[in-house]
Amino acid sequence: MIPNQWYAILRSEDIRKKPVGITRFSKKLVLYRDNAGRAVCLDDRCPHKGIPLSNGKQHGDHIACPYHGFQFNQEGKCVHMPVLGRNGTIPKAMCVRSYTLREEHGLIWFWTGAGQADTLPPVPMFENFSRYKGFTSRYGWNAPVHYTRYVESVCEVYHVPFVHKGSALNIWDPKGGRVDDFKCEVNGTLISSNFILRADDERTAEETLHAMLPWKRGWRIGVDVQMPNMVQIRNDVFDVYVIATPIDDDNCWVCVCYQEPKRDLLLPMIKPLPIPVWRRVRPWMMCRMERYIQQAKDMEAIRGQEPRISHLKANKLIALDKVNAYYLKLRDALSRAALENQPAQAAIAAAAQPDPVTHNEMAAD
Ligand code: FES
Ligand SMILES: [Fe+2]
Repeated sequence: MIPNQWYAILRSEDIRKKPVGITRFSKKLVLYRDNAGRAVCLDDRCPHKGIPLSNGKQHGDHIACPYHGFQFNQEGKCVHMPVLGRNGTIPKAMCVRSYTLREEHGLIWFWTGAGQADTLPPVPMFENFSRYKGFTSRYGWNAPVHYTRYVESVCEVYHVPFVHKGSALNIWDPKGGRVDDFKCEVNGTLISSNFILRADDERTAEETLHAMLPWKRGWRIGVDVQMPNMVQIRNDVFDVYVIATPIDDDNCWVCVCYQEPKRDLLLPMIKPLPIPVWRRVRPWMMCRMERYIQQAKDMEAIRGQEPRISHLKANKLIALDKVNAYYLKLRDALSRAALENQPAQAAIAAAAQPDPVTHNEMAAD
């Protein structure tokens, strides 16, 4: 986890009246909504005798421990101890840590540093999604890999003809998977790439883009990484982003968000059904397919990857892995800047300069 960043930790709809216990960044957290509907996040451990507060109940703005009923407010201060009576003196140390949250884009964002929510930078979001007016659907689940490896698995797509061969969404030539016209640039904490994924044959990249048969057609694809942990995939059928947030060193929480597909994926010749509910169903369905079809295959492929946590020297990357390489460089630079209390801007600018000597993974540069 990189300090001083916003990480999405849950979907908004995952927190209702009942407290929810989750693990993120190797911490046990409890979340609930106060009377005003504001999401609250506290350490999920009662300071009295260590009971998970997520097993407790909400009392108005407060959460009550199920063991002796001590109540804690939104700042984590104990405000009522039934055993001492209404006027009892509550010890100052009877408190839990509270965390800074924001709720935007249908997600709950957790700040991995100090400070008040209103003085912090904006939460990260791809412009393609923040300006989108159609229906979107979000779906979240836990995956058994470190979040760096999950981000890496989404930020290149040339594994698709191998890992996703035979799956419903793999309409690329299974023998293909060649990448042409690859371009990558870094702008602050956003890494963007554009390329054509196509069959490996004699045609030019441009010719493959105009092929009639879907399995002969080349695809114009964009893959972007927004630090600290978001990947967007763009093409002429769908736009999706994927977030991978640390749970611990072996697991991450994944959230995908699909827009409405630009045309029907499985039946490209058929126009979307003219039923209003169908517009909502399609991104909903894409999210489920992502989890149960695509990610199941990805997990089979990358389970057992070593080292479990990726870093600058963990891989021998090729030039087409530039997005991956920049992601690791920026991750390293931002973490260092935060730990050394240095301004992030200088670290970001330095990381954007390819340096084949210290960064030998990009040997093809
Ligand atoms: S353990 Fe929570 S109130 Fe006693
Ligand atoms: Fe994949």
